[in-house]
Amino acid sequence: MRILILGGTTQASQLARALAARPDIDPLLSLAGRTQNPLPAPIPSRTGGFGGVDGLFSFLGAQRIDAVIDATHPFAAQMSAHAREASARAGVALLVFSRPPWTPDEGDDWTDVANMQEAVAALGEKPRRVFLTQGRLQLAAFAAAPQHFYLVRAIDEPAELALLPNRRFVPARGPFALQDELALMREERIEILVSKNSGGEATSAKLLAARLLGVKVVLVARPPGANAAEVFQLDDVLRWIEAHRPAP
Ligand SMILES: NC(=O)c1ccc[n+]([C@@H]2O[C@H](COP(=O)([O-])OP(=O)(O)OC[C@H]3O[C@@H](n4cnc5c(N)ncnc54)[C@H](OP(=O)(O)O)[C@@H]3O)[C@@H](O)[C@H]2O)c1
Repeated sequence: MRILILGGTTQASQLARALAARPDIDPLLSLAGRTQNPLPAPIPSRTGGFGGVDGLFSFLGAQRIDAVIDATHPFAAQMSAHAREASARAGVALLVFSRPPWTPDEGDDWTDVANMQEAVAALGEKPRRVFLTQGRLQLAAFAAAPQHFYLVRAIDEPAELALLPNRRFVPARGPFALQDELALMREERIEILVSKNSGGEATSAKLLAARLLGVKVVLVARPPGANAAEVFQLDDVLRWIEAHRPAP
């Protein structure tokens, strides 16, 4: 069974590891190519866009893909939309392997916003010490509020960093441990944390650290979701694969 995994997440890596040793499955991991030095994949992989819906549709046919597992990041809305359209057109089964959004607990001080522009507005006028953890993407939005100090964390240094006059860049790749998050936020005297509501355990320690330190959190909501089948557990993916085996 030939399976295309759309990757770039912990879920995709987890699935790739689970399928690597399976002689009955021929998996292919696809990465967008945004990260300069991605972790080595345990299964064959390809890098770069497909060329829109038409490109992906052709790819599914040329590679004789039996099923697509969309394990892209919850904020990678365009890739997911293309996957839905191309797989429906090609008659190829599609499953979304994701993680549930984070929800606040007692002691959390969260402000939910719809997008990065609203996140900037939620920081207010008064200069604050802000921890930006949304990665490279949409950093430019914060140029509209240059009065704040920004601690920017991402895997690769973003070109847009130069747009923020008062900032420090921390190169880092998750998962992140609570003790490290506490130490970093204390050391930088962080007052507000900005994050996408990505969900998942690899990057949730910052939210617990914020609660323990009384740091406000501005959380950007996920883009409007799809109506494709979605699961959050590896076991459910493996069961779905069994149920979608092509007839011999
Ligand atoms: N957005 C985030 O916050 C975030 C966070 C962590 C990781 N990631 C990962 O980074 C990648 C890019 O994210 P994004 O938000 O830029 O995506 P996006 O806006 O949904 O996608 C933009 C374009 O990038 C290409 N692309 C995206 N994911 C791909 C994949 N797995 N394989 C091949 N091409 C892919 C597609 O190009 P074509 O139209 O040419 O096919 C897609 O139309 C994704 O793989 C995602 O899982 C994203």
